[in-house]
Amino acid sequence: MLKKILYPTDFSEASAKAKDELIKMSSCNIEEVIMLHVMDERLYAYSAYIDSFSIDNLDIQGEILKSVKEKMSVWEKELEDAGLKVITKITEGIPFPQILYIAKSFEVSSIIMGYQGHSKVEEMLLGSTAEKVSRKAPVSVILVR
Ligand SMILES: Nc1ncnc2c1ncn2[C@@H]1O[C@H](COP(=O)(O)OP(=O)(O)OP(=O)(O)O)[C@@H](O)[C@H]1O
Ligand SMILES: [Mg+2]
Repeated sequence: MLKKILYPTDFSEASAKAKDELIKMSSCNIEEVIMLHVMDERLYAYSAYIDSFSIDNLDIQGEILKSVKEKMSVWEKELEDAGLKVITKITEGIPFPQILYIAKSFEVSSIIMGYQGHSKVEEMLLGSTAEKVSRKAPVSVILVR
């Protein structure tokens, strides 16, 4: 179950907790961790409006990608420092289907992720990505509280 682990992260506090658990599990013969961030395409839907305010040369998507890459390399280093072999992946789309797609194409043996993400709509509520992935994934899913 712990051979090849998919770790999707939105860099939220909840997904940082999943990273802490991965670090604690680093001595459990994990072969590889695939750290995935999905650039949520729904967030860019609004950038089209910005043109009407005539802000030229503003590359929002490029700026987000830059900061995602920076965060990714900091978190990757934390995992590597714990002795884990890490593959990083940044894709674009809707998080839930993308996570399932990467899980299948990398033939992962399990998925570890946060119970919630950034929304924190209600402390007790399970995030929709966490809920859908755990319902549809072909492998075991660890949701970190
Ligand atoms: N864009 C993403 N890329 C990779 N992993 C993600 C992404 N969004 C969420 N996740 C993973 O899913 C976990 C749960 O997040 P989820 O999106 O379900 O909760 P939420 O953001 O609080 O709620 P919602 O998105 O339904 O409003 C996160 O801790 C993270 O591990
Ligand atoms: Mg979310």
